This record gives sequence, C-alpha cells and structure tokens, in this order.
Amino acid sequence: MARLKLPSQDTGLWARIRSRLDRALADPAFQQWAARSPLTGWFARRKARALFDIAAGFVYSQVLAACIKLQVFELLREGSRDVDSIAAETGLEPAAALRLLKAASALGLVKALASGRFALDDLGAATLGNPEVAAFVAHHDILYGDLADPVALLRGERQGQLAQFWPYAANRPGDDGGVGSNGDTAAYSALMSQTQALVADAVLEAYPFGGRKRLLDVGGGEGDFAATAAQKFPGLRITSFDLPSVAERAQAKLETLGLARRVAVVGGDMLHDPLPGGCDVVTLVRVLHDHDDDSALTILKAVHDALTPNGEIVVAEPMSGIRGAEPMGDAYFGFYLFAMGRGRPRTPGEIADLLLKTGFVRPLRLRTPNPLTVSVVTAFRV
Ligand SMILES: C[S@@+](CC[C@H](N)C(=O)[O-])C[C@H]1O[C@@H](n2cnc3c(N)ncnc32)[C@H](O)[C@@H]1O
Repeated sequence: MARLKLPSQDTGLWARIRSRLDRALADPAFQQWAARSPLTGWFARRKARALFDIAAGFVYSQVLAACIKLQVFELLREGSRDVDSIAAETGLEPAAALRLLKAASALGLVKALASGRFALDDLGAATLGNPEVAAFVAHHDILYGDLADPVALLRGERQGQLAQFWPYAANRPGDDGGVGSNGDTAAYSALMSQTQALVADAVLEAYPFGGRKRLLDVGGGEGDFAATAAQKFPGLRITSFDLPSVAERAQAKLETLGLARRVAVVGGDMLHDPLPGGCDVVTLVRVLHDHDDDSALTILKAVHDALTPNGEIVVAEPMSGIRGAEPMGDAYFGFYLFAMGRGRPRTPGEIADLLLKTGFVRPLRLRTPNPLTVSVVTAFRV
C-alpha cells in the first residue's frame, strides 16, 4: 500500500511563501485590502465565511437539534405549513417558531416560500432520510456538555460524561473490572445500532467478500453488521463477537430478525480472551479507533491468531487525513474520542503500520462511497 504522507510543505521555497502569506493574512490592513480588491475579494470573502462558519458552528448544530427534537422535519414531510400550525404542533409561541424556521431556512434545512409558508429544504429532507443523523444529534447533548470547556478537557482537568456513556472506554488497559461487568452497554449499543445502516452498506460495497466463507465480526455490537452481511451474502457463515452483555443483545436481535441460525454470537473480551477461530475474514467495524495503540495491537494480534492462513482483516471506521473528510476524521472524531478518554482516529497509513507490526501483510486501502462515515483498510495473514 502506498503510505499516506502528510504534505511536506514545511521547508523550502513553498514554506517561505506560505509563511509570508500567513503573516499577511493575520494583518488587518491586508485583510481589508484583500476584501476590496477585485482580484482577491472572492477569496477573502470565502475565507471569512469559512472562519465565521467555524465560529458559529455550535449555534448551527443547536438549530438542527431544535428542529429534530421538535420534529419540524416530520411535520413538513407531507408538504408545506404555515408558522401558526408549526407553532401549535411544536408547542412554541408563533414568534419563537418563526425564529427557528428562519434560522433553519438560512441553513438550508427548511425553505421559506413566497406564501409565507415553510417547506422542507434539501438538508432537512436528507435528515429525514438518514435517521442516523437524529440519533447522533440527540447523543450530542452529552458530547457538547463535555466540550463546554475544551481547554479543561485538553488539559485533563475534567473527565466528562462521554466516558461514562462508553463504560469499556473508562477502563484502562489491564483493568478489566468494568469490562467484566460490562457496565451499561444498552445505551451505546442502541446508538451504534441506530447508526450502523449507512456504515454496513458502505463497507459491504467496498469489500464484497469475494470467495470468503467464514466471517468473524469482532466488536460486532448488536449484530447489525453481521445481519446485513448475512442478508447480502447468503453463502457466508458468520460469527458476531462482543462483550457478553452486548452479545446477549445481539442474540436477541438476530432471533427477532430470523437470522439466529445464520449468525452465531459469542460473548467475550477481545483484549483478554482468544477470539473464535477458523474464520477466513475478520471485520473490525468502528472498533480500532476506540483504542490506544497498545490495546489496538493486542486486538490485531488476537485477530491475526484467529484467522486461517491467507485470511483477511477488514478495518472499517472513519479515518484521519481522508481527503474531503478531514473535519470529520480529525476535528469531530479527534475530539470525540479524546472526550471519550481513549483511542484516536488514525490515517490509513497508521493503521497499515499497526497491521504490519502484528504480522499482517499487503495492507490496502479500499475506496468507500462515503468516507465521511467510513473508510476501509484490509490486509492478509500469511
Ligand atoms: C463503537 S462500538 C462499534 C459496534 C459495531 N461494530 C458498530 O459499528 O456498530 C465498539 C464495540 O466494541 C465492543 N467492545 C469494546 N471493548 C470490547 C472488549 N474488550 N471485548 C469485546 N468487545 C468490546 C463494544 O461493546 C462495542 O459494541
């Protein structure tokens, strides 16, 4: 695999030009000149808008959160409505409803019609079509609470609520007290399940299991990925592995889906127990990034041992440094996992390094249809 390298623009002529440009951009007089000049005006305005969007991002998110919590998009699903009817349905005063609708309209979530009524706009419609978004927005109440003082978080002066939401993350490597008792796995398992559909489809499109016979999905949660794989690939025998209390939930769900005979469920601790053997492909979907390097290496070694010769590992998660998805990988997941207390988003190259260290060969990055939510790196056991 061609290792991903960060652009090395910190030396030479380019670095000197860049550093002069940065100094100029920081100068208010230059900013005013650039904004007025016909040559640079569009560029200056674009940069100003980008900076403003970052500064105001929290407010934008909360406008979306209010729309979702008040089910504004649901109300508009069947067609446009006037402000009074939206106010009545949401329990807001008409003036407050109008304030929200105008904000949502400015963000492309709803559309203000000439008649004074409001209808769905593209982003509101997309939110309706992706229930994952609503699940994440609801979950953000915890994350944003922890991020209220980002500097305190970065300095390690406070441990937030997010670590409690993910009990396995609150345990340090080697301390399996909480993992053994599994903590409260129901809340995070439900969130993972609600947000799995997009991920599973993207992973299975990127990696359609050509010729593989036995899949082990490690950290398989409630079994949603295993269920999608079972439905798409009828010839595949599948085992889903997770902490015992999560495995129980997977078993119950697979029975409800009528897939319990196709998908075996095994409970255990991937950091300490051997994984079920005899599989020729192992998936780690949104699992590795939850772990610091030492635990990640332990997990990869366990996967290596569980695979048959020439078996393949598939690491699928949002990654760092993916072109076009940088804010999601490094800003969103970088801070999310930091607040959670463990793990980090890795570049495909960093994942390849961990794979090579644990004995895998021929790491390869596969393209996915939606790198915002998931990228894929595969490698082989010799
Ligand atoms: C972020 S969730 C991803 C779940 C699922 N793969 C998905 O994408 O929806 C990580 C999963 O790893 C599991 N996990 C964490 N630590 C574990 C351990 N030590 N042994 C087994 N499973 C573990 C969690 O219970 C959880 O289901």
